[in-house]
Amino acid sequence: MPTPLFSANTGLKFANRPDLSKENQVENSPAKSSAPAQFALFTCQRGAENALKKELERRRPTWRFSYSRPGFLTFRLSESESLDKRLALDVPSLRLVFARSCAHSLGRVSARECSDAAGNFDVSKALVRVWELAASEFGNESRSAETARRLGRQIHTIARIHVYERDQFAVGVRGYEPGLTSSAYELHKRLYETAPKEFQNGFATDARKLDAPAEPGEICLDVVIVEENEWHVGFHRVSDFHSRYPGGLSPLDLPTDATSRAFLKFEEGLRWSEFPIEIDSRCVDIGASPGGGSQALLARGALVLGVDPAEIDPLVLAHPNFTHLRGKINQLRRKLFRKSRWFITDMNVAPVYTLDALEELVMRDDVSARGLLFTLKFFDWKFADDVPEYIRRVKSWGFNHVRARQLQFNRQEIMVAALKKPFVK
Ligand SMILES: C[S@@+](CC[C@H](N)C(=O)[O-])C[C@H]1O[C@@H](n2cnc3c(N)ncnc32)[C@H](O)[C@@H]1O
Repeated sequence: MPTPLFSANTGLKFANRPDLSKENQVENSPAKSSAPAQFALFTCQRGAENALKKELERRRPTWRFSYSRPGFLTFRLSESESLDKRLALDVPSLRLVFARSCAHSLGRVSARECSDAAGNFDVSKALVRVWELAASEFGNESRSAETARRLGRQIHTIARIHVYERDQFAVGVRGYEPGLTSSAYELHKRLYETAPKEFQNGFATDARKLDAPAEPGEICLDVVIVEENEWHVGFHRVSDFHSRYPGGLSPLDLPTDATSRAFLKFEEGLRWSEFPIEIDSRCVDIGASPGGGSQALLARGALVLGVDPAEIDPLVLAHPNFTHLRGKINQLRRKLFRKSRWFITDMNVAPVYTLDALEELVMRDDVSARGLLFTLKFFDWKFADDVPEYIRRVKSWGFNHVRARQLQFNRQEIMVAALKKPFVK
């Protein structure tokens, strides 16, 4: 995408960005308290805000919803937490399905704090302000890094800067795909170049690259571009696949020979779930047409049975490791799946139908599934309320590791990954 850079007098320019300054803006006044209030920042797919809000209200009933824009929410923590405790907070530990990223807030940078003589957002001042906020939590640690290292004491330094924008549209609308934007790359470059020396000393060697994956345990400074002139600054510690990438946005591209966009969600799902799919792993892809999900499996060397009444793309059909079982899943004889261990499913049906079909399959004595990776389609967002029940149901089939997440490449749907461990033969 061509890069719109900084405009001459004000801040960042956004390509095709609608004016959202008043849209869906909600703010609650924080409750009065003597300790400085702490906040957590979340991004999610546009449209999933309510689902995420309800999840947080369930998981953290003492936190208070504070502020939201489409694709972005903040919550006020019930009490002040130490840096170590704040570093332990992340999407996996909160078991959130609809959060794409989660960070602890250090503060907001807007025209209110950083304006020029004419009252416009002043980017140069804003860059300085971001580093002041970073220093408020990590400054002393970074300055004393060398001494601490010599004494063998653990220090908290910022290893890289994660810059990302909240989603500009609902996924799929006008072909929109969430991802790292040119504005995020540009702001990242400016922040990297203006970082004070004590922070630069602690940066990872590849921190110059916004999309370089962070290492587990590293601390990242988060700068969320909520508006052209409103950035929210925070931090998180890397703990899983998604938190390695700015805003949980991995730089996956659709290969030119991919037969469908579904390739991306299964590629992301396989990386996130860390399912050990390798050469000769026996997999079933239910709802396989035209074949994107199967391609993600075939690329790992798996043997794939693709179930679908519809046509499979000739490229996938011609693959020596692929077999098309033409028909609906409930019309096929179960003994066909006796040797299969991994089941991926992506049927364009209501969640309960997908769950019924999977249950019917995996509960049979002659089918021995190790893992399931499947989408649940929310034709209506009200299905989001039933996610805890869906997860309970999958666990009741004997899958003891069950996770669900709305992936970057999921549209109005979620991905569920379920494992039965230890694996049986
Ligand atoms: C969203 S498409 C799947 C895309 C595919 N996973 C890919 O990677 O390209 C949904 C598919 O589910 C199939 N489907 C719906 N109900 C089914 C059933 N009961 N058994 C098998 N396939 C089914 C449809 O025929 C359709 O091709």
